[in-house]
Amino acid sequence: MIPVAKPALGEEEVKAVQRVLESGMLAQGEEVARFEGEFAAYVGTRHAVATSSGTSALHLALLACGVGRGDEVITTPFTFIATANAILYCGAKPVFADIDERTFNISPGEIERRITPRTKAVLVVHLYGQPCDMAEIMELCEEHGLMLIEDACQAHGAEYRGKKAGSFGDAACFSFYPTKNMTTGEGGMVTTSSDEVAERVRLLRAHGAVRRYEHVELGYNYRMTDIAAAIGRVQLRKLEQMNARRIENARRLSEWLEGLKDVSVPYVTEGVRHVFHQYTVRCRRRGRVIAELERSGIGYGIHYPKPVHRQELYARLGYSRACLPVAERASEEVLSLPVHPMLEQEEVERVAEAVRRADR
Ligand SMILES: Cc1ncc(COP(=O)(O)O)c(C=O)c1O
Repeated sequence: MIPVAKPALGEEEVKAVQRVLESGMLAQGEEVARFEGEFAAYVGTRHAVATSSGTSALHLALLACGVGRGDEVITTPFTFIATANAILYCGAKPVFADIDERTFNISPGEIERRITPRTKAVLVVHLYGQPCDMAEIMELCEEHGLMLIEDACQAHGAEYRGKKAGSFGDAACFSFYPTKNMTTGEGGMVTTSSDEVAERVRLLRAHGAVRRYEHVELGYNYRMTDIAAAIGRVQLRKLEQMNARRIENARRLSEWLEGLKDVSVPYVTEGVRHVFHQYTVRCRRRGRVIAELERSGIGYGIHYPKPVHRQELYARLGYSRACLPVAERASEEVLSLPVHPMLEQEEVERVAEAVRRADR
C-alpha cells in the first residue's frame, strides 16, 4: 500500500524527545522558546508563538487581530473546516468568497465583492501549499482598512515572489499535524511582525496570565509542550530537504500526467514556490480514477468533498443557499495523490501509471 501521507521521522526526532523526557521538564519551556525563535527566523517575521494546534493558532490570531462579535471575516469555502470554525469561535461571521478555478485559492475579485461596512478581516488559505495572490489581496486590505490573516497550515516554506508564506499578513497560522510538510504530532504556530499581536497571542495562549496566577482576561490553554517543540526543531531543520522532495515528486507526476483526457495536473502560478502539501489533480471522471487507485493499493484523498458552506453545521447557520459554484464544482472533481517525501521513485511511477490506466 502506498499511503497518501506519511511523516518523515527518524532517529534524530527520537533522540530529541528522549532528551526532553530525561530533563523532566515536559511542559512549555526552553524548547518551545527556541522553536519559536527558529521558526520566526525561517519565515522572516519578528515573532512566532507556538500553540497546541493550527486550529488554536487561528483562533488566537483572529482574536489578537481584534475580530469579535458582530464582525464579518471574508474567507474561502474550499478549505478544512477549522479555518471557518475559528471565525465562529470569536463570535464573528464567516463570509465565503468563491475560489479561482485554476489554483483553488480564494479569488481577490470575489473578496472585493463581499466587503461591507462590517468586514473586519480577510482570512486567506494557501491551499495545498500554493500561496494566494498576495499582491492583490494586500492591496485590497490596505484600501479598505481590513486586517489580513494567512492560514498557512498547508504552506510551510511556500513562497510568493521570493517571500515566505506566513510573512504577509497581520498574523499567519501554521499547523504541525502529522500529515503536514513538517510535524510536532499536534501543534501550531502564529507568526507576526506586530509586537502587539504577538503579545496578545502569548497572553491568550495561557489563560490571560500576566504573571503566575494573575489573570487579566479570558484566555485558553493552547500551549505547546516541550516534547512537541523538540520534534518541531528537528523537523524544521529537515523542512527544506523534505519540501525539495515533494516538489520533485510533483514535477515527475505532472510530467507523466500532462495531456491526459480526463485529468488535469495542478496549475502553478508564476512567481510562487508551491510546496505541494497536496498534489491535487482535477478529474472529470473521479470515480474511475479512484477505482483504479484502490485496485493498485494506492492511497488518495479528497480535499475537500464538501465546501464548508455545504457542511451540516453551516447549513444550520443559514449558509445552504450560498452560491459558490467554483468551489462546489471543485469538490466534485479534486483528487489528491501521494506526493510525500518518503515515496520511492518507483512508487511515484506506480501512482502515475495507475492514473494513466484509468484515463484510457
Ligand atoms: C487549511 C487548514 N487550516 C487549519 C487546519 C487546522 O490545523 P490543526 O489540525 O493543526 O488544528 C488545517 C489542518 O488540519 C488545515 O489544513
